[in-house]
Amino acid sequence: MALVQEGTVSHVWPLGTTVDERGVLQLGGCDALELAREFGTPAYIVVEDDLRTRARAFLDAFERHAADYEVHVASKSFPSSPVLRVLAEEGLACDVAGGGELAIALRAGFEPGRIHLHGNAKTERELREALHAGIGDIVIDNFDEIDALERLIPHGSHQRVLIRVAPGVSPDTHPKISTGGPNTKFGFSTHDAPEAIRRLQASDRFDLDGLHMHIGSQILDIAPFRPALEAMARLGEFRTWNLGGGLGVAYTSEQSAPSIEDYVKNKVSLVEELIGPGHRVADEPGRALVAHCCVTLYTVQSVKRNVATWVAVDGGMSDNLRPMLYGARYEAHVVGRPGGGTVCHLAGKHCESGDVLVHDADLADPRPGDVIATPVTGAYGHSMANNYNGGLRPPIVFVKDGDAREVVRRETYDDLLVRDA
Ligand code: LLP
Repeated sequence: MALVQEGTVSHVWPLGTTVDERGVLQLGGCDALELAREFGTPAYIVVEDDLRTRARAFLDAFERHAADYEVHVASKSFPSSPVLRVLAEEGLACDVAGGGELAIALRAGFEPGRIHLHGNAKTERELREALHAGIGDIVIDNFDEIDALERLIPHGSHQRVLIRVAPGVSPDTHPKISTGGPNTKFGFSTHDAPEAIRRLQASDRFDLDGLHMHIGSQILDIAPFRPALEAMARLGEFRTWNLGGGLGVAYTSEQSAPSIEDYVKNKVSLVEELIGPGHRVADEPGRALVAHCCVTLYTVQSVKRNVATWVAVDGGMSDNLRPMLYGARYEAHVVGRPGGGTVCHLAGKHCESGDVLVHDADLADPRPGDVIATPVTGAYGHSMANNYNGGLRPPIVFVKDGDAREVVRRETYDDLLVRDA
């Protein structure tokens, strides 16, 4: 797939991406080759306007369709305070999956009352931190958590909570990121939920605000939200219905995904139809908010030929684990040569044969020193980055209107040693 087709770049690239007359990718008005030179590679380049536009797309769609709503960014998708700060400025609320993400969300500037805490194994420390910070909701996952909170919430005060329910519905996605089926580690089964509801309503420690479901991630067919909400609707009458995010995105130019508008409209109308009017509809998108804003830049280190052609870059499974974990498909381009022509495997630098970023990539005459760009790396890229082989996690660089600023620096060797006693 060539980078430029019919004079324009495909929908997988951040909004506003262009290719100049030399064929060089321009991200947020910045030249990708200059970005690679200035900040080094691998680097996560985040187009700030893309991030803001998608946040507004969610908020505008909810504003159009729902009278009462809340949109939480699932911070696990890009848990970096500069990124989350942009989303807080745009008016989103925040979902955190533990104490670490809570600390990041607070640093990013979210009001504590607009943060909620998830987790199927919240520790006592995390629950204490959440209570201490005064967060909006704790999303209760299991009976042991109810016991723990009954001990921790001081007499005379109470905490607003949601109950996470697994509705017993599995969408069409990778099994590792399907979460709402009958045999999941997340939430209460529909069988146990009534008992959880009864206990929370009977206790003066809790203010039960509603139910929560998250059936999975990278959902491209939104039909399963209906049977899932039907199962939830049988559990009673509540103010808030949190439908848990999950909207998938196109990772390659051949793929397409439902629009944010269609996805939001569908979820809001399902609540109105199956639960009734006058409810708060909440959602927690991660991927669809942050995936497209980011392009990872690499530099080719070697090219070799055996049965296939292998093009190896200076990153890999340490900055993008998704191909390795889920067989996720990406596309890649040589910056400055927007065509294709050489079918090859774009390999990472790590000591495992599985460390391949793109199988059968179509690159234009790749050579050592070339800068490679892979789009759609914002969601769960930085998030699952690691130090395998002593790799240094990449910087995050914001680009906007032709200016670039490093908001998270590259790790150093000292960072690898700093925790040693
Ligand atoms: N809410 C809850 C409770 C979640 O567990 C998740 C994602 C979300 C919201 C956001 O879902 P999204 O809108 O991003 O689909 N590492 C995997 C994705 C794991 C998703 C885990 N939960 C990947 O790279 O595909």
